[in-house]
Amino acid sequence: MEIVIGENYEEMSKAAAAAMAKVVRDKPTAILGLATGSTPLGMYKELIRLHKEEGLDFSQVTTFNLDEYVGLSGDHEQSYRYFMTENLFKDINVNIDSTNVPPGISDDFKASCQAYEDKIQAAGGIDVQVLGIGSDGHIAFNEPSSSLASRTRLKTLTRQTIDDNARFFDNPTDVPVYCVTMGVGTILEAKKLILLAGGAGKADAVADAIEGPVSSMCTASALQLHPDSIFFIDTAAAGKLKMREYYQWVQDKKPGAPCWD
Ligand code: PGA
Repeated sequence: MEIVIGENYEEMSKAAAAAMAKVVRDKPTAILGLATGSTPLGMYKELIRLHKEEGLDFSQVTTFNLDEYVGLSGDHEQSYRYFMTENLFKDINVNIDSTNVPPGISDDFKASCQAYEDKIQAAGGIDVQVLGIGSDGHIAFNEPSSSLASRTRLKTLTRQTIDDNARFFDNPTDVPVYCVTMGVGTILEAKKLILLAGGAGKADAVADAIEGPVSSMCTASALQLHPDSIFFIDTAAAGKLKMREYYQWVQDKKPGAPCWD
């Protein structure tokens, strides 16, 4: 695990965007795993800038999003499909037919979740997966007690997540209770993981994820099992890390270190 602590949200977002841009430049046909929420917005803004000002080309990429609310169609303003269109897809040259979001509406969720898994496999697997982290330590919507081997499936949101996300809805009672989410097992199969966290409200979850035991009670802790994961966090989100000075020391020593890509 690599821990990159930015001075502030903007620095963190730019560092994460640079890592994403490198994947796309190295492999123009990259399979990108994307996330919603307020945290990745700065990174998406920077990717849009890189596309517009530096010609970062998304024309051949394929994308898979982590999750979607059950019951919301793609044109609903709170759906994650809508979020992606508004905050990224409409401002870059991605082929919209190559963008995928889990099914929020289905007659047969078991079959449509399996189809989502199959589509990821058929595409060759995800090259880099972007993740946020919930204040309860969730990645995607893998709430505490989700199996670390879980696959794309229906989940029931916790009260805490519903309350956290109520800010996006006109009426707090409109927040859906159910979602479809990639599983922790699905996420761990991505070749590279990038987790973003900003603000003091995430400090406990970040500390549990990086320095706590691997546990289904903090599904972000499963990143400890992944061979290539990077946490891009700001100083506030880093506030409860015991080994923070060491993580900074590692970053300071990075230039000139042997074999560091
Ligand atoms: P946020 O959500 O970026 O809006 O804080 C993160 C998450 O719940 O994964």
